[in-house]
Amino acid sequence: MAVIDLWKSFSGKEVLRGVNLTVAPGESLVIVGGSGAGKSVLLKHLIGLVQPDRGHVIVDGEDLACAEPERCLAIRRKFGMSFQEGALFDSMNVFDNIAFPLRRHTRMSEEEIAERVRECLSLVHLSGIEKKMPSELSGGMRRRVGFARAIALKPEILLFDEPNTGLDPITAAAIDRVIIEMRDKLPVTMVTITHDMNSAFRIADRIAMLRGGKIVAVAPPEEFRKLPDPYVQSFLAGQPVEEEVA
Ligand SMILES: Nc1ncnc2c1ncn2[C@@H]1O[C@H](COP(=O)(O)OP(=O)(O)O)[C@@H](O)[C@H]1O
Ligand SMILES: [Mg+2]
Repeated sequence: MAVIDLWKSFSGKEVLRGVNLTVAPGESLVIVGGSGAGKSVLLKHLIGLVQPDRGHVIVDGEDLACAEPERCLAIRRKFGMSFQEGALFDSMNVFDNIAFPLRRHTRMSEEEIAERVRECLSLVHLSGIEKKMPSELSGGMRRRVGFARAIALKPEILLFDEPNTGLDPITAAAIDRVIIEMRDKLPVTMVTITHDMNSAFRIADRIAMLRGGKIVAVAPPEEFRKLPDPYVQSFLAGQPVEEEVA
């Protein structure tokens, strides 16, 4: 997947100003940046939920930015996305939440669906909770059910928006372990956005920093740690600066 010279502004405010980025098949790329830097906006471009003012998002050789709406839907089907907070349907139990995309987008029998739901729950270490309602689950469990739903259709690319936000450090580390296991067990490409550097170092093959509407640095974790850029260093020191978007 590649992002080429992506620009986006909202009512005159330039959020993305020429983002360039490539993601290799099977890699886990983590995009870091301050609050308001445009990370969620960038992620929504990757899946075609937001159209750029200028630039391209290439997925398997196709440009999402100029694909016909129908093609766009087909390309979007290659993605699994886990939104901030998990975003489960509160009125549905865990089984129906994970079965939802399968019922909607496949012709699988209920038996096959049940088997697939079981597999997905097992991958996130939550076997047997099919009948629980989201309100009965802890924050960490809800995130993991969100992951299970995101992988139900066997996506090529998984996108995570702030998978750790709002969780205590121990739960956050457990979530990272689940992400690492998915990375290692599934044939997927992963793009995660976060402002949590600890998490970035745990799950990334490469870390990219979004700042001022551009990717200003990309490197494997060990190299990223040594980058001389003062902004990167203050970020690493746990002092992420609020992003000023002009
Ligand atoms: N649909 C929208 N309409 C107007 N402004 C938006 C919209 N989506 C995002 N923005 C603005 O874009 C900027 C970046 O937002 P976002 O990508 O959510 O930041 P973050 O890096 O924290 O995820 C913010 O200033 C936000 O207010
Ligand atoms: Mg965000």
